[in-house]
Amino acid sequence: MSIDDTEVSNLKKICDEIFGEVNFITIFIWQRAFAPVNMNKFASRNHDFVLCYAKQTDFLSWYGLPRSQEADTRYSNPDNDPRGPWTSGDLSVGPPVPEKIYEIVTPSGRVVYPPKGYCWRVTKERFAELLADNRIWFGKDGDSVPRLKRFLSEVKSTITPLTVWTHQEVSHSQDAKKELKELFEDQSVMDYPKPVKLMKRILELSTRENDIILDFFSGSATTAHAVMQLNAEDGGNRKFIMVQLPEKTDETSDAYKAGYKNICEIGKERIRRAGEKIVQETGKTDLDIGFKVFKLDSSNIKEWDPDFENLERDLFDLQNNIKEDRTKEDLLYEILLKIGLPLTVPIEEIDCRGKTIYNVAYGSVLICLEDEIDLDLVQEMLKHRSEHMPPKVILKESGFMSDAVKTNALQTLKKHGITDVRSV
Ligand SMILES: C[S@@+](CC[C@H](N)C(=O)[O-])C[C@H]1O[C@@H](n2cnc3c(N)ncnc32)[C@H](O)[C@@H]1O
Repeated sequence: MSIDDTEVSNLKKICDEIFGEVNFITIFIWQRAFAPVNMNKFASRNHDFVLCYAKQTDFLSWYGLPRSQEADTRYSNPDNDPRGPWTSGDLSVGPPVPEKIYEIVTPSGRVVYPPKGYCWRVTKERFAELLADNRIWFGKDGDSVPRLKRFLSEVKSTITPLTVWTHQEVSHSQDAKKELKELFEDQSVMDYPKPVKLMKRILELSTRENDIILDFFSGSATTAHAVMQLNAEDGGNRKFIMVQLPEKTDETSDAYKAGYKNICEIGKERIRRAGEKIVQETGKTDLDIGFKVFKLDSSNIKEWDPDFENLERDLFDLQNNIKEDRTKEDLLYEILLKIGLPLTVPIEEIDCRGKTIYNVAYGSVLICLEDEIDLDLVQEMLKHRSEHMPPKVILKESGFMSDAVKTNALQTLKKHGITDVRSV
C-alpha cells in the first residue's frame, strides 16, 4: 500500500491489527519527486511510503532483486581460477575467539596474525582446507594478508532490497504521468498513476513465473502493465486480476473529453495499448496479453419473491426465470462461478444451425442456453463430450420445445451415460 505522511501512521496501525505485527515486513520509501515545491510552507515532501505486509511471514515467498550487472563488475579473475570471476573478503573478524587466533605463513614466507582485537574467520583446520582448495588469496605477489575468495558463481543471484527506492531506480510521478500520456495520444487521463518500474520492482520482489497478482484499487492498471512487461522480460506467465470501481471521470478532465467516462474504461484501454506496445517493442508475438472483463452484478436469475395478492401473475412471470436484460454470456459466466470453475477456463462456442452450444473445459461441461432446444441440438452436444469423463450438461429449463422433448432429451443423454444434467 502506498500512502503519504498524512495517513501513514493510521494505516500502519490498522494494518498491524489486520495482518498482525509479526507480519509487518517493512515500509519502503519511494522518492516520488526530486525538485522542491516552494509553495509548500514547511517541507516539500518528495517521498511516499510503501507499506509491505505478509499474510504469514513464515510462508512468504520473497525473491530479492535481480543482481545488477553493476554489482557483477566487482568480480574478476586475476589468477585464472577455473571456477570463474571472484572477489575477496576479509578473513579476520571480531570479537576474537582464542582458538581462531593462529599464525599463517604467506607464500612469500611472511608470518601473519589477525589484527589486534580480531581473530580469523575460520579454524586452523578449516583454513587448511580452504587453502588446499585455492580459496585463499595472498595478493598478486603472494605477500599480502590472506583474504577469502568469493566466487560469483556461488553467491546468491539476487540481492536484498534497500528500503529507500530512488527515482533513478523506480521512476518518479512525473515519469509515471509521461509514460501514461505516451499511451494515450498525449492526453493526461489519470492524475496520480504509479510508474511501471515501481510496480515492476514490487513484482520482482514477491512473484515468480505462474503467480497471480491482484490489485483491488487498480486505477489506470499500471500493475497489469508491469505484469506484462515483466513477463516479457523474464519469460514468466504471471496473471493479473485488476479491480476498479466504475468511478466517474470529471466532465472537465482530459479523460472524459477523450471518451473515458469512468476509470475502468481507462484501465481497460491501458491494458490493450500497453500489451500491444510491449509486443511491438520486444518482438515477442507469443506474449499473452489477452484479458477478460467482468462487471459485478446481481444474479441473472429472477428471485422468487412473490406478491401473494398477484400470485398468478408472478408465477407466469417466472416461467421465464432469466432476467430480460441479460445476455447468454452473462448467464454462462454465472453458471461457471456456481459450479466452481475459474473464469479463465477455455470455452469453445459451437454453432448449431444458428444456436450456440458452449463447450467448456474440453467437453467436460456442455451448456446450451437457447430457447427452442430440440433433440438435434442435444445430439450435437453429445458429439463434443469429453472422452475421459461423462460431462456435466446444463440446459435452459424454459428452453425446451415441449415436455416431451425434455423427457426424450434426458433419456438420450442417459443412454450415453450422462446423468449429471441440470437446468437453469
Ligand atoms: C489512486 S488510484 C490507483 C492508481 C493506480 N496505482 C495507477 O497507477 O493508476 C486508486 C483507486 O482506488 C479506488 N478506490 C479508492 N478507495 C476505494 C474503496 N474504498 N473501494 C474501492 N475502490 C476504491 C479509486 O476508484 C481510485 O481510482
